[in-house]
Amino acid sequence: MRIEDVLKDSLSSVHESRVKEAMLYSLLAGGKRIRPNLLYAVLRGYGRDEAEGDSFAAAIEMIHTYSLIHDDLPAMDNDDLRRGRKTCHKQFDEATAILAGDGLLTQAFASAAASEVPSDIKGKCIAVLAEMAGPDGMVLGQDLDIREETGVTDWESLKTIHKYKTGCLLSAPLMIGALISGHGDDTEKWHEIGETIGLAFQIQDDILDVVLTAEEFGKSNSDDRNSKVTSVSLLGIEEAEKLMIRLYERGKELIRSVSGFQSDELVGMITDIQNRRK
Ligand code: IPE
Ligand code: IPE
Ligand code: MG
Ligand code: MG
Ligand code: MG
Repeated sequence: MRIEDVLKDSLSSVHESRVKEAMLYSLLAGGKRIRPNLLYAVLRGYGRDEAEGDSFAAAIEMIHTYSLIHDDLPAMDNDDLRRGRKTCHKQFDEATAILAGDGLLTQAFASAAASEVPSDIKGKCIAVLAEMAGPDGMVLGQDLDIREETGVTDWESLKTIHKYKTGCLLSAPLMIGALISGHGDDTEKWHEIGETIGLAFQIQDDILDVVLTAEEFGKSNSDDRNSKVTSVSLLGIEEAEKLMIRLYERGKELIRSVSGFQSDELVGMITDIQNRRK
C-alpha cells in the first residue's frame, strides 16, 4: 500500500530517541489506513495524481494514531490492546505514550507544511486539518465522550459526540482531497459526507465492540467495562445496524451527487468499510 511507504519515510529526518521509537511503534503497527486512502480516492476521483496527497495523507494518519494512543491511556479508555499489539503505554510507559502522541501531532503539521501543493491551497488544507483535529473537532468529541457518563441519554447528544470524535477525522481527508484537486467549492459537501460516513463508522465500531472478541478486533473491547453510552447501549444492536446501513447508503448517495467527480472507486471503498469485520 502506498501509504505504508509514505509513513515509513515520514519520520526519517527525526532524531533517534525513545519517543521516536514509541511513535513508530504505534504508527507502523498496521491499522486499516482508511483516512489516507480516502484522501487518495478523492484525488483519483477528481482525476489527480495521488502523490500530490502524500504529505497530508501521512499527516492525517499521524493525527489519527496520536488520537488512538491518547484514547487508550488509563485516564481515558484504559486499554491494553491496539492494532493487534500492546497499547503504547503498555509497551513503553504512560509518560512516553503521552509524548509519542504529542510528537505525532506536531510532526503531522511538519509533514503538512512540507507538502508541495501551491502555498495558498496548502494554507487552506492546514487550516482544515487543525479545525477537524482540534478543540472544534476530534478533541472536542473526545472531551464530550469522556464526560458522557454525566448524562447522555438521548441519541441526538450521542450523535453530536460521534460527529466530532469520529466524523471530523473522516471529513478532513475528503475536504483536503477536494482542496488539492482545485475543487475548494465542494469542501462543505465533503464535510457533510465525512460526517455521515463517520457516524455510520462509529456506530459500526460500537457494534463490533460488542460482537467481536478483542483478538478478532485487534483492540480491547472496553465499552461495557467503561459503562460507555454507545449506539448499541442506546438503540440496541438491531436498530443500530439498520441506522448504520442507512447512513452508509446516504453517504454513498452524497458522493455520487458530487459533480465532476468519478465516484466508483470511493463508493466501492465505502462498501468495503461497511462490510469490514475489524
Ligand atoms: C478507530 O479507528 C477509532 C474510531 C474512530 C472508531 P479505525 O477503526 O480506523 O482504527 P485503525 O486505524 O484501523 O486502527
Ligand atoms: C475513539 O472512539 C475515537 C478516537 C480515538 C478519536 P473509541 O474509543 O470508540 O475508539 P476505539 O474503539 O478505542 O478505537
Ligand atoms: Mg474512546
Ligand atoms: Mg477507545
Ligand atoms: Mg470503540
